[in-house]
Amino acid sequence: MTTRDRLGPVLARRDAAAAPSPAGTPASPQAAWRVLHRAASEPYRAGGRFALHFARGKLGFDPVFRALLERGAITPGARVLDIGCGQALLASLLAQCQAAATAGLWPTAWGPAPTHTRYTGIDLLPRDIERAECALAGLSPPPQLHCGDMRRLAFGPCDVAVLLDVLHYVDHAAQHDVLLRVRQALAPHGRLLLRVGDAAQVRRFRISQWVDHAVTRVRGHRVPPTWGRTLPQWRDALHALGFHVIALPMSGGTPFANMLLVCNLAPAEPEGAAR
Ligand SMILES: C[S@@+](CC[C@H](N)C(=O)[O-])C[C@H]1O[C@@H](n2cnc3c(N)ncnc32)[C@H](O)[C@@H]1O
Repeated sequence: MTTRDRLGPVLARRDAAAAPSPAGTPASPQAAWRVLHRAASEPYRAGGRFALHFARGKLGFDPVFRALLERGAITPGARVLDIGCGQALLASLLAQCQAAATAGLWPTAWGPAPTHTRYTGIDLLPRDIERAECALAGLSPPPQLHCGDMRRLAFGPCDVAVLLDVLHYVDHAAQHDVLLRVRQALAPHGRLLLRVGDAAQVRRFRISQWVDHAVTRVRGHRVPPTWGRTLPQWRDALHALGFHVIALPMSGGTPFANMLLVCNLAPAEPEGAAR
């Protein structure tokens, strides 16, 4: 009996759970997420084994990507600026959201599907940008990908700016400057989605740092120094720039101290407060 034979019933159950609903019927959140996860990872096969496995692992285990969709945090039609985008997993996911929504499979329990977005990604590392280009070349519209340092590259106008696990790589003065330039690039009702570690959760913050260093080393890069802040310090810095901040724990199932800060330039509507 082969491994595939032995796993047959398990795979069949998994596939049934992930199967899309009959045409046009909204999928259950779990089924929709499985389909999105698989479809958004698949293009990275073109970038090699590392790119594919990294995409599957990151989209599968990091709760932030699904949370952004559940909360409708990226508005339809938004110009999305993803700073420190890595291999631009968010661009791939947004393309699949468009496909799911067009097929009528978007879960009704989630926020509005982020359709018709235009994506720009920036990352320091040429290898990540190459992986993104290789995987996402066929998307329409194609994502705009730029290799460079966020401390120096100009940010074009955007409606949603995304910085997931990036700002701690630069010192506090540079963090302020990047946030100020993001603020200036955002449209009047724009939103910044910022994930950071809360340095006040000392043990969890140390674990995040340790894993971050280990992953950086495995990816063959020099481990840079990092600069953290506590949640109140992040809030103060963001309030000073005119953002209304909603802080959401975003470590779900991991031992990290991660917080997603949803930073709106306009105060959130009561029904949108959780976004
Ligand atoms: C932990 S990874 C997060 C990647 C992506 N945001 C995600 O969540 O999948 C941090 C990324 O920030 C990038 N980065 C670090 N310093 C940067 C800088 N000064 N300018 C642009 N990107 C930077 C790194 O190259 C890396 O891809």
